[in-house]
Amino acid sequence: MYSIVYYSTAQPYLENRDIEELLVNSEKANNENNISGILVYKEGNFFQILECPIAEKETIIQLFERILKDPRHYNVIKVIERHNRARLFDKYRSTFKALLNPTEITAIYNYLKQEKEYNPEGYSEVSYLTQKFLALI
Ligand SMILES: Cc1cc2nc3c(=O)[nH]c(=O)nc-3n(C[C@H](O)[C@H](O)[C@H](O)COP(=O)(O)O)c2cc1C
Repeated sequence: MYSIVYYSTAQPYLENRDIEELLVNSEKANNENNISGILVYKEGNFFQILECPIAEKETIIQLFERILKDPRHYNVIKVIERHNRARLFDKYRSTFKALLNPTEITAIYNYLKQEKEYNPEGYSEVSYLTQKFLALI
């Protein structure tokens, strides 16, 4: 699997319905394109995990290029881009205000556990930021 993880800041002019539309459209497009992961919007920020099979990695590389240029957010900070052993999210889901269910929380923890193996130096920062953002700590 190939995956990209980033944080960004939403444009303050975005209204709740704009964000909901963005989340719903992303969820639909990704599920149609064999992309799994999660997009969370919370208090003016986005957090997204994108993953797809390595053979199709261009799909998310190109998607991330489009996302980078999207005027609806700024300060896009990529924290992870690499190969992963396994798919950690069975599908793609968007959530407003970080209403995560236990399965999603487990998937994120498993993702972080893998990160520890791949990136022992950067792990604690990524893990802290992610858990803080998702209000898991
Ligand atoms: C925070 C954020 C996350 C996004 N995530 C996705 C996504 O996961 N999948 C997707 O297809 N588009 C996503 N988009 C929208 C893309 O930037 C872009 O508008 C969309 O892919 C359509 O591109 P096109 O108009 O060039 O076809 C996201 C946009 C933002 C601002």
